[in-house]
Formats: sequence, structure tokens, C-alpha cells
Amino acid sequence: MTEGEGTGPSEAAKRPASQEFTHTAVLTEEVVNLLVTGRKGAFVDATLGMGGHTIRLLGALPQECSVLGIDWDPEMVGIAAHNLAQFGDRVKIAQGNFANIDEITAREGISAISGALFDLGISSLHFDKPSRGFSIKHDGPLDMRINPDNPLTAYTIINQWPYEQIEHLIRICGERHSRRITRAVLEARRTRALETTAELSALIAGVVPGRGEKIHPATRTFLALRAAVNYEFDNLTRGIQKIMPLLKPGARLGIITFHSLEDRIVKETFGMMAELGGWQLVTRKPVKPSEEEVTANKRARSAKLRVIEKL
Ligand SMILES: C[S@@+](CC[C@H](N)C(=O)[O-])C[C@H]1O[C@@H](n2cnc3c(N)ncnc32)[C@H](O)[C@@H]1O
Repeated sequence: MTEGEGTGPSEAAKRPASQEFTHTAVLTEEVVNLLVTGRKGAFVDATLGMGGHTIRLLGALPQECSVLGIDWDPEMVGIAAHNLAQFGDRVKIAQGNFANIDEITAREGISAISGALFDLGISSLHFDKPSRGFSIKHDGPLDMRINPDNPLTAYTIINQWPYEQIEHLIRICGERHSRRITRAVLEARRTRALETTAELSALIAGVVPGRGEKIHPATRTFLALRAAVNYEFDNLTRGIQKIMPLLKPGARLGIITFHSLEDRIVKETFGMMAELGGWQLVTRKPVKPSEEEVTANKRARSAKLRVIEKL
């Protein structure tokens, strides 16, 4: 299935989910407490993943409520279809980019939304499955596409983009050694193309001085590549703009981010919406996971949830 066409999962995608990969949904209590307000109707999980948040939402929402789950990655759609089969027609699943949420909901016959969640970024499967090429830890091709139909890969950026573009990309994503890293990439690719995540992360580790930080020296570069390959900031801005007119009065929109650039977009956009009128901030400060949650799930540590309500 390609993005923008059909809606439900293909027959192949309905096969049983692999038990190999799991994803622990973050801030689930907080999501339920802040988004389930007694409103009935259709909810949207714009980043369905393995369905963890949708399962929690369906468990807490009145029986007559349904959830439309959207994911850009056909592999996640297949896994979610398996995990959510028990909910029957309370769940609809669509493959697509949430930046086109207006078209996706229209195709599904949904004209008004009672609540929505965006849990941004990628799933644990993406990090843990080497062939998807997102991981610093596991060697794989320099890919990083959430939707494998996407024409741009990390390989293209690393091996074909000019110095200025690579340097700018990783600098705006917070890498202060952007010049040093980009010079090393251009030097290395003069001899032969950089093919794998292990090659790239080793190259970066070799030129970036130890900072006494807990994160790997290639973390910010990998984040920047992933954001560019998947147009993440643009999708987020478009997704919020497109969902705004679809939300019913009283409906809440919750967004979970995992890094400061995304959180800034959400904070500023929600702030502007509240200032212009017709919207009210439900969370003035972002909601963060408890210490217990972070201890149990390290990947929750940078999560921030912001919620806004349509008046
Ligand atoms: C953090 S995971 C969500 C996990 C999910 N809440 C769960 O409980 O399993 C983010 C998901 O969003 C999907 N995604 C990322 N960008 C997207 C986009 N622009 N449109 C739709 N899905 C997207 C990814 O494929 C991934 O499965």
C-alpha cells in the first residue's frame, strides 16, 4: 500500500505481529487522564505504532467511541492491526502521513474529531531492527525512512548532499561539532561511499572529542538525518494545522515530543493558538514521565506531553 491510497492494512500486513520487537507506550496514564474527558465520537491516534496508546484509550473511552489509528510505516500498520484485532469495529487503521490527516479522515468518513494524540518520532522497532537503518548501536544500511516508499534516504544525504547543507542540518539539530563532522564525512566519501550506520557512527566518534556526556557522539547527527529524511518538522507543523479545523469544540489535542526542537514547535504553535482565541492550554508546562516510568522505560526519559483544548 502506498501513502495516500487505500486505507486499511493489506492482506500481507495483517499477518501476526513478530514477537521480536516491542514498544512500551509512554505517559499512558497522563494521556488517558488528559484526553479522556467523557466526550463521545471518533478519536484519532495519529502515530499508531504498535497500538499501545490506542489500546489504553479504547479501554478508557465509552464503548460507543472509536479510534482511527494512522501510521506512515506499513510495517507498523500490520503489527497494530494484529494487536488491535480484539477491538473489532471500534478501531480503524489507515496507512499515511499525518501531515495529510484531513485527507485520511475524509477517506475514513470522519468529519469531526473528539480527541487526538500525536506521539512523535519512531518506535522501538525502528531503533532495534538493524535493517531499518536508524540505529547507532546495531549496524544496518544508511536508510532511516519511516515509509520505505519515501525517495530520500540517509545514504543520499550523507553521500550526495553538499557540505553546506549537511553542516546546516546537523547544526540546527544541536550538534556543535557540525563542521568537524561534515568535513570528516566529505573526506571519507571522496574515497568511497559511506554505506552503513556503523561506518558513520564510528567516523563521528573518531572526530568528536569525548564530552563526558552519556549519549553517543553520533546521536545528534543521527537525529538530524532522521528528521530530514522524514520531513519531521514540516510534517508536525502541517499535521497540527490540518487537524485544528477538524476538532470539535471541547476536543483535546495531545502531543508527545522527544526532543527540544519538536517541543519548541508544539509549545509555540499551541501558545499562538491560545493567544489568537478559540483554544485553551490544558497544560501550561509540559507533562513529563515519573521517575518510576523512566526507571522502567529508559526511552521515556525525554518525553514531554502538551495538551490543548478547542473552545
Ligand atoms: C513513538 S511511535 C508511536 C508509538 C505508539 N504510540 C505505541 O503506543 O505503540 C511513533 C510512530 O509514529 C509513526 N510516524 C512517524 N511519523 C509519522 C507521520 N508523519 N505520519 C504518520 N505516522 C508517523 C512511526 O512510524 C511510529 O510508528
